[in-house]
Amino acid sequence: MAVEALKPRPASAKEASPGRAWWIEPALTVIAYVAFFAYATWSVFSGTIVGYRPYVSPFFSTWLGFGNFRLPVIALLVPLLAVFPLGLRVSCYYYRKSYFRSFFWDPAACAVAELKRGRYRGETRFPWVLNNYHRYFLVASVIAVIFLWVDAVHAFSLNGRLFIGLGSLVMLTNVVLLTLYTTTCHSLRYLMGGRMDTFSRARFGGVWYRVTMLLHRMNPQHGAWAWYSMFSVGLTDLYIRLLMAGVIHEPRWIL
Ligand code: FES
Repeated sequence: MAVEALKPRPASAKEASPGRAWWIEPALTVIAYVAFFAYATWSVFSGTIVGYRPYVSPFFSTWLGFGNFRLPVIALLVPLLAVFPLGLRVSCYYYRKSYFRSFFWDPAACAVAELKRGRYRGETRFPWVLNNYHRYFLVASVIAVIFLWVDAVHAFSLNGRLFIGLGSLVMLTNVVLLTLYTTTCHSLRYLMGGRMDTFSRARFGGVWYRVTMLLHRMNPQHGAWAWYSMFSVGLTDLYIRLLMAGVIHEPRWIL
C-alpha cells in the first residue's frame, strides 16, 4: 500500500487558502472585539448610571445602582465588578482561540504554521497564566447572571403593576443569551460531572450524569452564544441609553 508523504504545513493563511480572502474573518473579529471593549469601557466609566424605569443596563445591575447602595459605592464597584465578566471572556476557551487567530495570527488557522517559533511556555507566564483562573471568573460571573435575572424580572413591573415594554423583552433576551453563554462553558461541564470517575457510584450520580450530558450537548454552540451575548450586552445598554436621551420611544403596556 502506497503511503502518502506528509506535506509540510503552509507557512501562512494566504498560502493555505490561495486566492481566497482569508483575512476577512480575522479582520471582522478584531473590529468587533475592539468596538465592544471600547464601548463597554466608555459606558462603565462615563459617569452616567444607565437606567430608565424599570430598566437598568447590564453594566449597572440593580443591586449595585438602585438598591441600598448609591453613587459613591457604584463609582467604585462597577469598574471593579466588570473585571469578572471581562475575565471570563478573556480567559474563555472559545475567545482564546478566536483572539490568538485574529490578533496574533499565532497560528492563523489549524493547519497553518505558527508565526514565531520560540519556546512554548504554555500558561506558565504572565499574562497567560491568568487563564488558569477561568473557573473562578466563571463562579463570579454566575453570580452576576443571577443579579441580571433579578433586573430582567424587575423590567416586567412598574409601580407595583405588571408591565411589558420593548425594553423588558430586550433585557429578557439579553439575560437568556448570557445564561446560555455561561452554562455552556467548558469549566462548568467539568465542575458538574467531569470531576467524577464513575457516575453510578457517586451520590446523586444519575442527576449529575443527566446534567453533564445536557451541558455536553449544549457545549458545541458555546462560540455562537459568546458572540450573541456579547452583542446583546452592548445593544441592551445602548437601547436604554437611547431611551434615556429621548432619541427613541418604545411601545409600553401596563396591565
Ligand atoms: Fe468560554 Fe468558559 S466561558 S469556556
